[in-house]
Parts: sequence; structure tokens; C-alpha cells
Amino acid sequence: MESERIAGLEAAADCLAHARYAIALTGAGLSVESGIPPFRGPGGLWTKHGEPPMNGFQRFLADPRRAWEDRLNPTGPMRELWNALSAARPNPGHHAFVELEDLGVLRAVITQNVDNLHRLAGSRRLLEIHGNATLIRCLGCGRRFARDEIDFSELPPHCPGCDGLLKSDTVSFGEPIPSDVLEGCFEEAARADCMIVAGTSATVYPAAQFPLDVRDRGGDLIEINPYPSELTAVSRHVLQGSAGEILPKLVELVRARGR
Ligand code: OAD
Repeated sequence: MESERIAGLEAAADCLAHARYAIALTGAGLSVESGIPPFRGPGGLWTKHGEPPMNGFQRFLADPRRAWEDRLNPTGPMRELWNALSAARPNPGHHAFVELEDLGVLRAVITQNVDNLHRLAGSRRLLEIHGNATLIRCLGCGRRFARDEIDFSELPPHCPGCDGLLKSDTVSFGEPIPSDVLEGCFEEAARADCMIVAGTSATVYPAAQFPLDVRDRGGDLIEINPYPSELTAVSRHVLQGSAGEILPKLVELVRARGR
């Protein structure tokens, strides 16, 4: 069993070391070891509390003041999530992605996570497809702001640039993904011949489509997840286990191959 695990890791390291253009897709499982609960599966927020309404964006637009009040004073599962987010630090999995980028092996990370941990770890080419919970975005001009740049004395807050309505940068259910990020994701996926898929159930689109596109063009998928996902059956390399444990081992093996 252990020898199979090692052979799997070696084969995945070969794949990465020989890749012309490797990218990654990450999800909530990557941040589990930083203390942030995932959404689905064991301990998941939706598993415990049920899925939230699918029309979050429409509800925001219908009453943005109320939505901001809830945001600034969250209750229920949202409070659990914000408490975990504000205390979280990057784990060895996040740092491994930075090392792979430093080695010139990894060209971009597409993350579904809004927790800011890839940025804190130092990832450079980062596409936050579901936004970043620490940022605020103008629905008018698309500019993003840090929280301390915004005047919250009147809710909802408005853009200091164009006076447009401000919303958390986190993409709500029913909200279009900002086009700057989405276009970047499509470009990266079109170039990639290898993709690491770590800590995602691969059930939310369009994010889950990118690995399928890479695979359909003949690229290889390396999945890292303790449990089977929607992508397990189509992944060339399936590394079963936690991302924080497996990714640093993968980096070591890629380094040993002179990359
Ligand atoms: P999910 O909660 O759907 O899936 C988390 C995945 O991580 C599961 O497949 C777990 O088996 C796996 N996992 C758990 N612990 C792990 C570990 N230590 N190492 C590696 N993998 C582990 O999270 P996402 O796929 O990210 O959307 O969910 C996608 C989107 O659904 C989220 O971005 C969010 C949610 O609705 C928005 O916020 C817009």
C-alpha cells in the first residue's frame, strides 16, 4: 500500500517536471488544515446547516443595506465561517504552491477559495474565481478595495471612485463571475497541459469545467483529495490524502528532478 502511494507520488512528480505549462485549481479542502471548514463532505458548512439560498445576489440587490448589516454582523453558519477566516494562516499546502511557482513549474493558481490564504502565502499568478472575502468590489466600475479604504458610516457603502454600489468581492450565488477573472481562467486553462486539482469536490461550475477542458485537450490531471471527487475517474494521477501533507512531498520530488 505504502509502495503504491510512493509510486503514485513519483509518477505525479514526473508529470509536473515534464509539463510545458502546469496550473492548479484549488478548493476549500486546501484550507481545512488552516482551520477553515469546507462546504461539502464531513464537517462541511452546507453538510451541517444545509445549502444557502441560490439567489444571494438577487437578495443583495433587492436590499443592499440589510445585506451589509448582515455582513457586518453575521449570524449562524456565516459567523462560523468569518471567525475561522479571520484566524486562519496559510498551511504547507499553500506554501507548496508558491514553491512550485518559484521553481517555474506552476504558472497559475485558480482558486475557488475566498479566504485570502494563497495571497498571504505569496502566490503571484492567482485567479480568485469566487472573489476574496477581505476585499470589496464596486458593482459599477469593478474596482476592488481593502476594507479600510471604505466609509461604512452609511449603509450600503458606495464607491469612492464612481459612487457605484459596493459589495463584498466574494461572488454570491446567482452573481456573474467578474469578467477580468473569468477571462484569465479561460486563458490559463487553454494553455495548460497539466493541472493539479487540490481540495475541491469539483461540483461548482464554471470552476469544475477547467480541469475537464485540460483533460479533453489531452492534458493530465493530478488530483489531491482524501476522498473521491467528480474528477477522480478522469484524473491520471490520484493522490489520496490531505493537501498539506501531499503537496510538500510533491515539491520535494519535483526538486529532485532538477526543476
Ligand atoms: P467543497 O466543500 O465542495 O469540497 C471540498 C473538498 O475538499 C472535498 O472534495 C473534500 O473531500 C476535500 N478535502 C477535505 N479535506 C481535505 C484536505 N485536508 N486536503 C485536500 N482535500 C480535502 O469545496 P469546493 O469544491 O471548494 O462557492 O466548493 C466549491 C464552491 O462551493 C466554493 O467555492 C463555494 C461553495 O458554494 C462560493 O463561495 C461561491
